[in-house]
Amino acid sequence: MLNRPKLITCVTALVLIAGVSRAQTVAVYKATLSVRADQPRSTINRDIYGQFAEHLGRLIYEGIWVGENSPIPNTHGMRNDVIAALKELHVPVLRWPGGCFADEYHWRDGIGPRDKRPRRPNASWGGVDTNAFGTHEFFELCDLLGAAAYINGNVGSGSPQEMMDWIEYMTSDSDSALANLRRANGRDKPWRIAYFAVGNETWGCGGSMRPEYYADVFRQYATFIKNHSGNHIKKLASGSHDDYYKWTEVLMAQAGELMDALSLHYYTLPTGDWSKKGSATQFDEKEWHSTLVRTMRMDEFIQKHSAIMDRYDPQKRVGLMVDEWGTWYDPEPGRDMGALYQQNSLRDAIVAGVNLNIFQKHADRVRLANIAQMVNVLQSMVLTDKEKMVLTPTYHVFRMYRVHQGATMIPVDLSAPEYKLGDAGLPSLSASASRDAEGRLHLSLVNVDPHRAAEINANVWGAAIKTISGEVLTAPAMNAMNTFDRPNDVKPAPFSAYKLDGSQLLLTIPAKSIVVLELK
Ligand code: AHR
Repeated sequence: MLNRPKLITCVTALVLIAGVSRAQTVAVYKATLSVRADQPRSTINRDIYGQFAEHLGRLIYEGIWVGENSPIPNTHGMRNDVIAALKELHVPVLRWPGGCFADEYHWRDGIGPRDKRPRRPNASWGGVDTNAFGTHEFFELCDLLGAAAYINGNVGSGSPQEMMDWIEYMTSDSDSALANLRRANGRDKPWRIAYFAVGNETWGCGGSMRPEYYADVFRQYATFIKNHSGNHIKKLASGSHDDYYKWTEVLMAQAGELMDALSLHYYTLPTGDWSKKGSATQFDEKEWHSTLVRTMRMDEFIQKHSAIMDRYDPQKRVGLMVDEWGTWYDPEPGRDMGALYQQNSLRDAIVAGVNLNIFQKHADRVRLANIAQMVNVLQSMVLTDKEKMVLTPTYHVFRMYRVHQGATMIPVDLSAPEYKLGDAGLPSLSASASRDAEGRLHLSLVNVDPHRAAEINANVWGAAIKTISGEVLTAPAMNAMNTFDRPNDVKPAPFSAYKLDGSQLLLTIPAKSIVVLELK
């Protein structure tokens, strides 16, 4: 029988944190954890570790694309430092070109000689797009990263013909005019598209549609997503946001049989107020707490949208794709409002860990997720400033969690006290586990409490554990961050605060930290 969790407010204890053993006064709480390796579940689709790259702010231009003549070292115009950093994350899939931008993007603008491509206003986010980065550049980026392609089509200002032509241009191996145009532009072999979305946020920036209307639009467009040359494209319908359950209900009822997946967007705002979201770096514990309470709502939204989907699709053929998620803060004073550039702190790392644990828990229905966005926009992996680049705390979480990609989800039973502030609370601990093809177990733990370490009494069922290794990501301050001057303030360290006794494991997880362990 496992112990009930017990809160210890402040004790003098021998604490083993990040491998350092010392007597000190720390606040701890107790928790219990059962890792049910004897009850393996669904495969964790690699694609829940997906990224999103929109033509927005300094993401594509400067964050990725600097041009072949740039003094910044590059491969065919794409900066080497950013590519090398992202490769470490094993990015499985990349969504492009938007977002809201997708519904104003006309693919013919972005092919052919670059000096002949038209400059177009970026109507959603401001500025002018040179179209230097287009279809060929996107697929080269996917190749450099080893990522599959997720293309978001234009429904809001496009047509079924334009969409059908683009798909033929990209994927046909025939002797057609469009396949030959691609060849004339330098690409002989067709590319493969893993996912194609029919519009983005069609209830908002993608066309302000009602669900009944969009269900018919989806039916029409989906009919013209043709498979060429053995490419099987997964068709995504533009889905709901937050708790807009009616959208999911109508789409599943009226078009469910024609889609492979339905999307869901949910952003974490510290205040929940779009007119005053909160700062990325200047926040107190109240905003730390409210951010985490709000991010936990992802679990509720997935459960409720999935329950609707279950009624129409009990076999779970249709995936729920969270193709936009992450934190969204107010722009830093003096920065361009439309660029959505924000700093990234330890709080973002905690948000990332909590959400990835939630996606893994729902691996049976959630088969893809794209954090918004990859470079210089919202909750990024890396930030750039001209020739400089810095890895964010969120980057480190994606690097630590990559061990779960494609592994088998292992259920966990967790019992931990609430982290409460005022009337609101959330579980202090979040956990998730998987078993990889080599039989290794991986366990991810997030302690959201900024003050108390977690002393976890863990039992592993169905596996004999002999060795443990792992990493911990934490920092002294809730808003600790990496800057261009101090790029290593938040970085992973080896973790050794454990004791193993048979199948019984005692773990001490520092306050406000993320730990990923390998158990063999
Ligand atoms: O990620 C930024 C924007 O957020 C996307 O363009 C849009 O789809 C969403 O509203």
